[in-house]
Amino acid sequence: MDGTPRDNDISKIVEADRAHIWHHLIQHKPFETSEPRIIVEGKDMRVWDQNGKEHIDGVSGGVWTVNVGYGRERIANAVRDQLLKLNYFAGAAGSVPGSIFAEKLIEKMPGLSRVYYCNSGSEANEKAFKMIRQIAHKRYGGKKNKILYRDRDYHGTTISTLSAGGQDERNAQYGPYTPGFIRVPHCLEYRAQWDLSGEEYGQRTADAIEEIILAEGPDTVGGLCLEPVTAGGGVITPPPGYWERVGEICKKYDILLHIDEVVCGVGRTGKWFGYQNFGIRPDMVTMAKGVASGYAAIACLVTTETVFEMFKDDASDPMNYFRDISTFGGCTAGPAAAIENMNIIEEENLLENTLAMGERLMSNLWNLYEKHEVIGDVRGAGLFCGAELVSDRRDKTPAEEKLVQAVVADCMAQGIIIGATNRSLPGLNNTLCFSPALIATPDDIDAITEAVDSALSRVFG
Ligand SMILES: Cc1ncc(COP(=O)(O)O)c(C=O)c1O
Repeated sequence: MDGTPRDNDISKIVEADRAHIWHHLIQHKPFETSEPRIIVEGKDMRVWDQNGKEHIDGVSGGVWTVNVGYGRERIANAVRDQLLKLNYFAGAAGSVPGSIFAEKLIEKMPGLSRVYYCNSGSEANEKAFKMIRQIAHKRYGGKKNKILYRDRDYHGTTISTLSAGGQDERNAQYGPYTPGFIRVPHCLEYRAQWDLSGEEYGQRTADAIEEIILAEGPDTVGGLCLEPVTAGGGVITPPPGYWERVGEICKKYDILLHIDEVVCGVGRTGKWFGYQNFGIRPDMVTMAKGVASGYAAIACLVTTETVFEMFKDDASDPMNYFRDISTFGGCTAGPAAAIENMNIIEEENLLENTLAMGERLMSNLWNLYEKHEVIGDVRGAGLFCGAELVSDRRDKTPAEEKLVQAVVADCMAQGIIIGATNRSLPGLNNTLCFSPALIATPDDIDAITEAVDSALSRVFG
């Protein structure tokens, strides 16, 4: 021991991070006096930070991603083998893992048939918007180009996906936005815009979409983009009657229904896809995070054959196909990882586990509701749950964001990582978020809610 730092001395990493890394979504001023967090290692449901501290990850890599848990050797091996065989060729050509995964995926999505590979959720959504716009040009003289999106939903970080973003705080300062995106009301009954409940509220909220279509002119509206369960906007499960009516409206006005499954897709709600909880028949579905659980970057835009056919009906016209490319959408590591990810979900019955553990999580959260006045509402589907915090249950005044964040920090200090809506909606960043991996055990779920119980007691008394 001569006091010289070893090559594996983590303090060097921390200093390099502090000097050179621009982290996502965080104010860096505090790093002048404190260390940034570095996650060094993960196994199953647990991660370890630069100080060797163990945490249960209640949010699957922070953003609903690592659905099958950390340290999956068979995914790593599949990716390694594929990289050695062929790491890349542009997506104008096919690939072996690309074909195999597409076939497996389409088996889970009756009514849909075509997979367009991309590398992020934002990009997949952009491509859906491009298809809707191109269809407008090809079939409707350019007129049917407006795209409806919903208050509180999020579809990505690019300027056009922010233009379709219903979270004003996230959007602020990034305008001017792309024209032609029109907002429709959210469907969170807990903060209902009409004095209605249950099915009546669900239908009224959907009727509001029809009113907007009529006001804009149905011949100008080409697409409606919705999350099946709103994620970062507050874990909003749709009210009864909502989706049936949305489906009818899209059909009536010849509007393409684009479901953003970037969070719900590939198991999170206990079904392969969130929309499958509601009997919806989408024209386009986008997915990303859980597709390969973060072992490789992959996103998919899946369409019906009818949408696909619209791009090949006149091969003599050089403009008449989807003239789009994505360099990394051709990486073979993504589908190679996605095949094994899906195999794991099937072989380990993780959809069933998600439903069972989701029920346990919801039931634990409702028990906390009985104990802590500060919980105003509990919502969720499968292992995708939220608890909205309020300072007054009667008038539903949102809890202060700094107190909500104090609960998250208290859990972190206890070695439990949970999330909270943040920088999304002015004054309404007050929902605690839970999305453990689909492999969670009863003990993991109980450890998460026990940590929340004591954090709520400490922060709110
Ligand atoms: C519903 C939804 N859509 C799209 C995105 C964007 O995905 P990405 O960050 O991969 O671009 C996100 C990211 O959180 C999301 O939650």
